[in-house]
Amino acid sequence: MLAPALDIVRLSLHVTAATVWVGGQIVLAGLVPTLRREADRAVVQAVARRFAVLAWPAFVVLVATGLWNAAAVHFSQQNEAWKTVFMVKMAVVVIAGVSVALHQRSGNRLGLAVWGSLGGAAAVAAVVLGVALAG
Ligand code: HEM
Repeated sequence: MLAPALDIVRLSLHVTAATVWVGGQIVLAGLVPTLRREADRAVVQAVARRFAVLAWPAFVVLVATGLWNAAAVHFSQQNEAWKTVFMVKMAVVVIAGVSVALHQRSGNRLGLAVWGSLGGAAAVAAVVLGVALAG
């Protein structure tokens, strides 16, 4: 059975924003070592800044469509297991956002590595928990 049109819009927006926020971080992490080797530090920083300009609006879309998702699937009527996974996902989303913000503000290699890895891992966890919620 096909999904209703509004569900297609809602989930397509949520998943597309997730591909930018999560997939973008993974691709950027894969490109940065080459950029560091082949280009000036200023180029690496400019690319990272430009990625942030794309990624943060995607995060806003994720939160907005995430709230829409929760309303559309009638949060209050879901069972306890679903609600628990939802709450864990909310915690993971907060960790993802805060970690990436700290990563952006970090001035040293260790901070960049720690906050970048945590942000990336939390983002992937949010995808997995989201797929579990979608059933
Ligand atoms: C880093 C942020 C997020 C990522 C990467 C993410 C990712 C995903 C993914 C991949 C799905 C599965 C879609 C599918 O299989 O059709 C999903 C579903 C869902 N997400 Fe998110 N999400 C994020 C943030 C949020 C937020 C902030 C909320 C709530 C405020 C939320 C609520 C939901 C709900 C309720 C579903 C199930 C929707 C349904 O069954 O129709 N998500 N998410």
